[in-house]
Amino acid sequence: ELICKRDETSILTGKATRVWRYVGNLIKGPPNAVTALPDAYLGPLLRFTKGQKVRIRLRNELPEETVTHWHGLHVPMLMDGHPTAAIDPGETYVYEFEIRNRAGMYFYHPHTHEKTATQVYRGLAGALMIEDEEERALGLPSGEFEIPLVIQDRSFDRDNQLAYGDDMHTSMFGFYGDRVLVNGRCNLTLDVASRAYRLRILNGSNARIYKLCWDDRTPLTVIGVDGGLLEKAETRPYVMLAPAERVDLIVDFSGRPQGAKLTMLSGEFYGLIPPMAQRMMGSDLAMGEEFPLFTARVTKTSTDSWKLPEKLSTIRRFRKDEIANLDDPIPIAITMARMAMFLNGRPYGHDDIQPRERIPVDTTQLIEIFHERGGMGMMGGGMMRGRMGGMGMGMGMMGMMSMAHPIHLHGQPFEIIERSFEGDEDAYASVRDGLIDSGLKDTVLVAPGERLRIVKPFGDFKGRFMYHCHNLEHEDAGMMREFSVE
Ligand code: C2O
Ligand code: CU
Ligand code: CU
Repeated sequence: ELICKRDETSILTGKATRVWRYVGNLIKGPPNAVTALPDAYLGPLLRFTKGQKVRIRLRNELPEETVTHWHGLHVPMLMDGHPTAAIDPGETYVYEFEIRNRAGMYFYHPHTHEKTATQVYRGLAGALMIEDEEERALGLPSGEFEIPLVIQDRSFDRDNQLAYGDDMHTSMFGFYGDRVLVNGRCNLTLDVASRAYRLRILNGSNARIYKLCWDDRTPLTVIGVDGGLLEKAETRPYVMLAPAERVDLIVDFSGRPQGAKLTMLSGEFYGLIPPMAQRMMGSDLAMGEEFPLFTARVTKTSTDSWKLPEKLSTIRRFRKDEIANLDDPIPIAITMARMAMFLNGRPYGHDDIQPRERIPVDTTQLIEIFHERGGMGMMGGGMMRGRMGGMGMGMGMMGMMSMAHPIHLHGQPFEIIERSFEGDEDAYASVRDGLIDSGLKDTVLVAPGERLRIVKPFGDFKGRFMYHCHNLEHEDAGMMREFSVE
């Protein structure tokens, strides 16, 4: 049972902060299914095994309607947290589904019509781990050596209460807080032993994009992303993590002396948000500036030695002849209309299915995600003439407003088969090496000037499945559409 309720918790020193949160209550099941994250307000860490059948009773004790989405899970439409399935205060919704996904870190959060951003912001969010045989056989660091980390940004008023900007800037570019919380804490410090750890990181922020890197420039060892393990570990100088994206890292503290500290930063980057919008964030943690996220401090020596296996996993890739529409990809165009951003030129509307949004069940489709350029296309309106020059450099609205969007598709995860870029190369160079396209994804960051091709299966379940920008303010402002799988 998960209860959505109002609560109080201490995040800053002094007065308690009022939040909304998921509170877990295990009725029946394996004892490890619901464990509390060591946190101040996040929902319980849910642990499931592939093949397991789960039943979750969601009780709404909030003063408004809500619905919960199991981000990344492949479940039937009625179990997917569709906004039309929202329940009123006092009601209960029973979710029942089988875990079909690979091992990985997933995310649960509300998907309430036009209220997702504010409900998540108030604290409704949690992580969900799936385990499977393939992963277990690897003997990855587990127990106290496996640490889930949920990164979010928040602002507080003088009374220690959450402050949310209800202004034009927020609805256009998303909400950016001036404090970073990890697992609901400011300045989180982890006491670690001098051995290998597995850090499983989720960006649970509404809009902020992070550039994860260690302060001493130790490269990052990446073993997994949204949809589970990579085939082989990859070494990167930094990793870009957009809202709802996850990354699975191995960090080895062996050889580091007692007292040694290693801090995870968000490094400097450019070009993902218009310079004008960045300036408006002022100096309070502007996106793209460098700031610390959390610190690991070696407090115990350990002789445990563990070696990362060369091969982690096998990912089933689709062959060309398995893709239904190789010559005619389904478009997901990022478009502008007046002061809002939409997908394929239309705001969200339930039952507003367009021809290219109808997909036969049990097919695999090629999808192209891109920024609509100057031309009128589906956009209409005459204000964005002139070619959009990549990284926000163009003339007119399109150029001024061009920003990165984390595009998320419900249902099964997808493969990224192509990513191309045209625009400001210098700005792009500050993010490019942090994009990991080799694993299965459910959310992908699309930087200004980028064009991506993804291959996505639409198996098993018919119904309406959303695709949207995971900048939650964009999502609530209509940057969401549905595929009708039929
Ligand atoms: Cu994480 Cu449709 O959402
Ligand atoms: Cu989702
Ligand atoms: Cu967006």
